Amino acid sequence: MDNPYVLSHVVPTRKDYISTTDFDQVEMLDMVKLSRAIRSYIKAGGTLETLYHKNLAMIFEQKSTRTRVSFEVGMEQLGGHALNLAPGAIQLGGHETIGDTAMVVSRMCDIIMARVDRHESIIKLAAQSSVPVINGMSDYNHPTQELGDIITIFDHLPEGKPWNQVKVVFVGDCTQVCASLMMITTKMGMNFVQYGPPSKWLSDDYLQIGRANTQTYGGSVYVTDNPERIQGADFVYTDVWYGLYDKETPKEVYMREFYPKYQVNAELMALTGNPNAKFMHCLPANRNEEVTDEILDGPNSIAWDQAENRLTAQRGLLAYFGGVAEATLDKIKRQEEE
Ligand code: CP
Repeated sequence: MDNPYVLSHVVPTRKDYISTTDFDQVEMLDMVKLSRAIRSYIKAGGTLETLYHKNLAMIFEQKSTRTRVSFEVGMEQLGGHALNLAPGAIQLGGHETIGDTAMVVSRMCDIIMARVDRHESIIKLAAQSSVPVINGMSDYNHPTQELGDIITIFDHLPEGKPWNQVKVVFVGDCTQVCASLMMITTKMGMNFVQYGPPSKWLSDDYLQIGRANTQTYGGSVYVTDNPERIQGADFVYTDVWYGLYDKETPKEVYMREFYPKYQVNAELMALTGNPNAKFMHCLPANRNEEVTDEILDGPNSIAWDQAENRLTAQRGLLAYFGGVAEATLDKIKRQEEE
């Protein structure tokens, strides 16, 4: 990440941001670089209007706090406007197909972001949309969270440690956030471990992506129920044990499987052997279930920076897929030189 004003690809190689598997490491680093440059500029009081008069349609099939707020604020900070199409607010899911919705909305808006129940819905939306589609989470992955998370990891790298030697341990269930963290950390050549019960390990389909990444970029990927594998972690990450996508299994079943072994608490953090190991959570958290208050609110928690970096990432994604990456960086550079 050398010159912050120069990207390797100023025009995305794909129209849509559906999965980070569609992009190589250089492209992902471009998105990181652009997002961080915009963040520095805005935090210093700069204003941007590179998406002036552009409209973002935000389609939600589920509730959201971070994704909704960060996209709406991000679009406004780039000079554009966002429409919140909350669950039940549009015909989607009624008698209008996802393809028809995509064709109509993309005639009126410049970018679509959608959080969907099923990954195939985001694929269909992108296929029928004439404008870029950003995946705001599906049952398969959460790529906007991925970008914010890797920015957060870069922001909090252990002093003197090259980023491709970092170890990231995800504790708990193989949620789409766990899968996404595995995809982006292995794409960066980092060492990834999922520590959880065998029935909740990432599937082979996901692990094949991680293993292919390690062959290209280095690093490693493991799933384990052996607590010794936590040793040496620089980052410990967890997510809820019963998420949005499993509405059938009772909470008690999850609690029996995960508690107490997989709760991130002081004892588990001590297993890292690293007093500086950082704690991450995509949020929302079920406090004192997957993580104790002591850890979430403690000095090593970077969960709040991580939440703020959802906004950092969304601005970068909106500029990149909105086709104004170069114009945005040019404007930042010119104004900083004045
Ligand atoms: N982490 C995350 O996606 O949060 P929301 O569900 O609130 O958007």
